Amino acid sequence: MDNLARKLDAITLEKSGVLRLTLTDFRNYPFLRLNLDPSPVIITGENGSGKTNILEAISFLTPGRGLRSARLADIRRIAPALVNDEYAPTEITPYNWAVSAQILNNGNEFEIGTASEKSSKETLEDGIKTFERRIVKINGAKVSSQAELGKYLQANWLTPQMDRLFRGGSQPRRSFLDRLVYAFDLEHAKRTANFEHMYREWYQLLKSGKADKNWLSSLEENMAGIGVAIAAARREQIAKLNSFIEKEPDDVFPNVVLELDGTIEKLLDTLPAVDVEDYYKNLLRQQRKNVLYNDSVDGINRTDFKVYYKKKRMPAELCSTGEQKSLLISIILAQSKCQTLYQGFAPVLLLDEVAAHLDDLKREALLEKIRDLRVQAWITATDAELFAPLRGYAQFLEIKNGCLFR
Ligand SMILES: Nc1ncnc2c1ncn2[C@@H]1O[C@H](COP(=O)(O)OP(=O)(O)O)[C@@H](O)[C@H]1O
Ligand SMILES: [Mg+2]
Repeated sequence: MDNLARKLDAITLEKSGVLRLTLTDFRNYPFLRLNLDPSPVIITGENGSGKTNILEAISFLTPGRGLRSARLADIRRIAPALVNDEYAPTEITPYNWAVSAQILNNGNEFEIGTASEKSSKETLEDGIKTFERRIVKINGAKVSSQAELGKYLQANWLTPQMDRLFRGGSQPRRSFLDRLVYAFDLEHAKRTANFEHMYREWYQLLKSGKADKNWLSSLEENMAGIGVAIAAARREQIAKLNSFIEKEPDDVFPNVVLELDGTIEKLLDTLPAVDVEDYYKNLLRQQRKNVLYNDSVDGINRTDFKVYYKKKRMPAELCSTGEQKSLLISIILAQSKCQTLYQGFAPVLLLDEVAAHLDDLKREALLEKIRDLRVQAWITATDAELFAPLRGYAQFLEIKNGCLFR
């Protein structure tokens, strides 16, 4: 065992994971409570029985919009009895949804939870507007930032939607990369949310044609500042993973080389950050007219995250579906190990229908790696037999009619 592997081994001797999970009016669950130990959890059940919903609930115990990138309003349970004759869901349950959990973090226990809360705000144009937002509690006390959750629980996920990650547009790849950054840099979630907010405001101001020049300049200055910080954090993350993979290549899953294709990220190769900020500020100013003509606006919101199959020197988008799944698993494994070394505790893995597209050898190798890493992997499947090698080690749960049975 080399040094890194020994360090990893020492950290994961202390288990981390979810010990109790409670859902209230979350998706199809009016109420659900699971008592667990920190070993892997295999959830089986028919299509539509609520497997992914459980993984999504856990993903809400980390910053962001969860593994489905859902709108908060879609999560609140729709009671079937309230669906009217036109099959349109009418007023939903009067309660807001909530997810809470008792967490084991390196041997210490914590209570963390999140819920949606309705609030209203008075605006000049629209009068009183109600909106939903997510509140977060740690050990019973409300905290102001979702980023706080990252100190207690971290989660990496793989979902069937991600099977198309390498082939479609660049936005989901950027979000995927930004999530990898959050694990190491809790501020990154705030930064990306702030940037998006300012970008939307800038865009709408320009579209309205009523933009105040000073206001635009000040937005551009702020966007450039935060944008360069985002670009720098992305670069750092990619360098970290590439160098980790170089040192600790996986023996089964195809190792990757990661790359960033973005104007601002590239400039950071040669220029100090302050100069790149100036450049970005001017770039935004020059692109004001792009907004009017519906042309794209260059910047960190256009950066692409490129993945290559290292041994084959093949871009991921040209690899087979099975290979792409394996590449994603390889990134998630490297990320999880890096994260464990950095944070001093292991993340949970949320693997939704992960066995699809994997051959027997790869599936069994993945299960072995999950055992070696001692992570609490949550795995959903329609067939429990595929995970037979974990019998006696993992917890097998089956969903029937919204209830879970062991
Ligand atoms: N807000 C909601 N209220 C009630 N049911 C929901 C809501 N959102 C999704 N569902 C239902 O949850 C069920 C289970 O979904 P899912 O967890 O994706 O199933 P699977 O077991 O196939 O992963 C689906 O039938 C879906 O219609
Ligand atoms: Mg599912």
